[in-house]
Amino acid sequence: MSRTPATSTDLTASSLCPPELDSARLPAHVAVIMDGNGRWAKARGLPRVVGHQAGVEALKSTLRQCSDWGIGALTAYAFSTENWSRPGDEVNFLMTLFEGVLQKELRSLEEEQVRIRFLGDLDGLPEKLQQLIDDATERTAKNSGIHFNVCTNYGGRRELVRAAQRLAKQAASGTLDPETIDENSFARELFTVGDQDPDLLIRTSGEYRISNFLLWQLAYAEIHVTDVFWPDFNADVLKQALLDYQGRNRRFGGLDPITT
Ligand code: IPE
Ligand code: IPE
Ligand code: MG
Repeated sequence: MSRTPATSTDLTASSLCPPELDSARLPAHVAVIMDGNGRWAKARGLPRVVGHQAGVEALKSTLRQCSDWGIGALTAYAFSTENWSRPGDEVNFLMTLFEGVLQKELRSLEEEQVRIRFLGDLDGLPEKLQQLIDDATERTAKNSGIHFNVCTNYGGRRELVRAAQRLAKQAASGTLDPETIDENSFARELFTVGDQDPDLLIRTSGEYRISNFLLWQLAYAEIHVTDVFWPDFNADVLKQALLDYQGRNRRFGGLDPITT
């Protein structure tokens, strides 16, 4: 992301939002399973890793669009706890890619007031990547713009087990009464602490599954699946997902006030 920093004379987010969308009813938080990089490359006769490189460009522009259009948080699934089962070369390529992108993009993330966090079991990542992550997290922590969460070595089940362990330790040490554990205190032990749950989940490449992503947080997310492979994801496809979202009737287990 490189462009001039936002100034007070910039257009407001709602004026940048496409006119087909209702800027007052955008999701506050969008989560995305960026899938199909390998198939995108294969369709072009290219190695899978070229798809991952192209996927980075799609993520950068999606972050820009979400920020410009007034979406408060974007959470992207970059590497799952299950992705370690891929060939070593592909895993190594991805780790090096993450390192390179962080180094290259940190300054513009700072300038654009993005607050970046990495969600997942970060101890399991290469040392250099961990250092870059720590630096980026610290340097952007006080930024006032979009919350950008990158799920790296992330698994929803592992996150839930971790939360249970953290609460159990507090209970065992006598600082927590187990009777007081409720949904709010449980959610505070998740990686996503501080962000509200995603309103919209987008999955690319036509796969209708969650793949161990945000198992707790997606409880009431609206789900939009597009056949587009992640590297081809662009403003138009994002707009279609948001239009789909805006046509949904979210009931949260209650009754529809309009039709009942
Ligand atoms: C998503 O694309 C990126 C990661 C999981 C790292 P894939 O690599 O899963 O691409 P496909 O699904 O094989 O096409
Ligand atoms: C989900 O995609 C993980 C990421 C996008 C990082 P996968 O390609 O790993 O998911 P499956 O294997 O098709 O379920
Ligand atoms: Mg995939």
